[in-house]
Amino acid sequence: MDIIRIKGTRPLRGTVAISGAKNAALPLLAATLLTPGTHTLHNVPDLRDTGTMLLLLEKLGASWERSGTSVQVDTTGLSGSEAPYDLVKTMRASVLVLGPLIARTGHARVSLPGGCAIGARPINFHLRGFEQLGVETILEGGYVEARANGPLEGSTVYFDLPSVTGTENVLMASIMAQGKTIIKNAAREPEVGNLIDMLTGMGAEIDGRDTDLLTVTGVDFLQPVEATIIPDRIEAGTYLMAVGAAGGELTVTGCNPSHLPSLVEKLHGVGMYIEGRGDSFTVSCPVDSSGHRCSLRAVDITTMPYPGFPTDLQAQFMALMMQAQGVSIIHETIFENRFMHVAELQRLGADITIEGGSAIVRGVSRDKICGAPVMATDLRASASLVIAALAASGTTDISRIYHLERGYENMVKKLKDVGADIEKMAG
Ligand code: EPZ
Repeated sequence: MDIIRIKGTRPLRGTVAISGAKNAALPLLAATLLTPGTHTLHNVPDLRDTGTMLLLLEKLGASWERSGTSVQVDTTGLSGSEAPYDLVKTMRASVLVLGPLIARTGHARVSLPGGCAIGARPINFHLRGFEQLGVETILEGGYVEARANGPLEGSTVYFDLPSVTGTENVLMASIMAQGKTIIKNAAREPEVGNLIDMLTGMGAEIDGRDTDLLTVTGVDFLQPVEATIIPDRIEAGTYLMAVGAAGGELTVTGCNPSHLPSLVEKLHGVGMYIEGRGDSFTVSCPVDSSGHRCSLRAVDITTMPYPGFPTDLQAQFMALMMQAQGVSIIHETIFENRFMHVAELQRLGADITIEGGSAIVRGVSRDKICGAPVMATDLRASASLVIAALAASGTTDISRIYHLERGYENMVKKLKDVGADIEKMAG
């Protein structure tokens, strides 16, 4: 199994270009199922997860072709409506094919995703939303069978929690339903807005973009579309925090600074210099008169739905706080088990105590953060290990890096190009 080897304490200097957002590419690729024809998506990141979604579309009868960061998907000849367990268990976002298949064919059979490292992650909100649109859902043998007995009927769908993929799934199922559908307590993440833009381009009628109240007026006809994936705000935030850990100065280009309001506020509180202008950030750490890096301040965070602090940046922020001056309380409210990275960060010298849904991070001096072999447990945990390894003295070997490759395009090259001593090698 491949590992990533990092020799830390080297400052980062230069420019990192951000790729398309994984969590936008996945719903937008699924949305190509809504209507036959050839769709063209631009700025599609080349990741394990986008590869899995393209494989799933193939299994459903679609064909696709990548040319650079653009992908053409032809969904004219759908030949199936089943998403098998072996695919869904590797990527839970496969459930995003439910909504478009139900809208287009009235039927879908998708394996229940099961839990993952960060939590149980049920899809009950998705299924309840479909049922309110007139779809029958039957759970059998680890699969959900969804069937519409006639045209879908517009309805009011209320989400107990603003589920991102739940909002996306119900939205896609509703756009050709008869009448109006109101989605209350909808997710407001930028990736949902990106999907709404694509669906509108296909001919859907959706009001309330970027709010928690979406109103869909069903249409009879959709057409294939050309759409562009927004930049990956989680990738951008990860690199901003990498500078906090390693020191130096980066320009992070091809991103949308307005998509990271809470992180920028928090990193200002930590004492970092961050300026977002146009499609770029410049970011650096404070240094004293002799050019030595100043200490970062410990800051508390609570993860919340957008525009609050993203749960997908929690692990990375913890890796930053392990070397800050003071105590940081990190409260995770979205997932019940998103502290798998704590034990691995402790192997690198972190002083962290977990109390219920909070992690208490007592900053240690940089000389106490030392390289060691560690193991990635999930996508964002693996990014936090990279950040900690960049700060650590000595060598850190990170195993199970397939987790990292699910959601970060060319991370080893991007970091090496700005001065990190980082290699991917056989473990
Ligand atoms: C999306 O997952 C993202 N994935 C996640 O990113 C992200 O962490 C999450 O939203 C929160 O922002 C994609 O967009 C592909 P949710 P999703 O439904 O939609 C509970 C990453 O690292 N819930 O918003 O699955 C759920 O358990 C990944 O890129 C139900 O109870 O998350 C959680 O506690 C990780 N029933 C909360 O709601 C449901 O039917 C929010 O989950 C659905 C969700």
